[in-house]
Amino acid sequence: MNDLDIALVGQTSLPGLCPIAEAVQQLATDSGRDERGAIFTRKEVVDFMLDLVGYSADQDLTSARLLEPSFGGGEFVVAAVARLVESWKRRGCVADLAACIYAVELHQSTFEATRESVRAKLKELGFEAAEAARLTQAWLHFGDFLLAPIPGRFDFVVGNPPYVRQELIPAALLEEYRRRFSTLYDRADLYVPFIERSLNLLAESGQMTFICADRWTKNKYGGPLRAKSPAGSHCEPLSI
Ligand SMILES: C[S@@+](CC[C@H](N)C(=O)[O-])C[C@H]1O[C@@H](n2cnc3c(N)ncnc32)[C@H](O)[C@@H]1O
Repeated sequence: MNDLDIALVGQTSLPGLCPIAEAVQQLATDSGRDERGAIFTRKEVVDFMLDLVGYSADQDLTSARLLEPSFGGGEFVVAAVARLVESWKRRGCVADLAACIYAVELHQSTFEATRESVRAKLKELGFEAAEAARLTQAWLHFGDFLLAPIPGRFDFVVGNPPYVRQELIPAALLEEYRRRFSTLYDRADLYVPFIERSLNLLAESGQMTFICADRWTKNKYGGPLRAKSPAGSHCEPLSI
């Protein structure tokens, strides 16, 4: 069984699985950039966003959990790893870092390439190959963020979710997303349920920062997402 089969089997508690699994498999192995919404973020933007939420090495990052829902080429993950390891070194290298990062990617070859980049980064930071492989395996998850079971809550959620118009989402998958996410309303783009699921996974005093279009803050399809903003939460749109 390869990584793809394992990831899809992890999502088989779905009624009417086959067309959904087929659609996910198609996206994972044979989709273009538009269908996956694959546009990667520049390092300076990533650093700005990690600073914005306070994910910095002078904090104790070894006891925090960070989620990247669609990691692509890994710009957020690699920058987060560098900050996490720096924080860990400042605290005497005692904590196990396996639970500190959880990152998901749907596209198989993108997943595999980024897995190599993260291993290489860990080796550059002084980790033995076996430990680099163990941590990378614990951190990087292959699958559909909107369908995969994800344990626990996160203190930080960061990323740049996929922007995909509904016309490009396979019908069976769109139906399953609609069944699970009330914010996938009217013509809502795929980034909208990404925000919903990320908010659901955010710890009570957690911090989340996403690159996204601001259309949902004003238009019809953004209504259910706006209504979801938890009391006491603060949403600050920034133009950069
Ligand atoms: C806009 S890119 C951003 C990548 C990365 N976060 C960054 O900022 O550079 C979106 C990524 O989401 C992935 N993706 C698309 N649908 C997904 C899904 N349902 N679950 C997880 N990842 C997905 C795409 O393959 C692509 O790599």
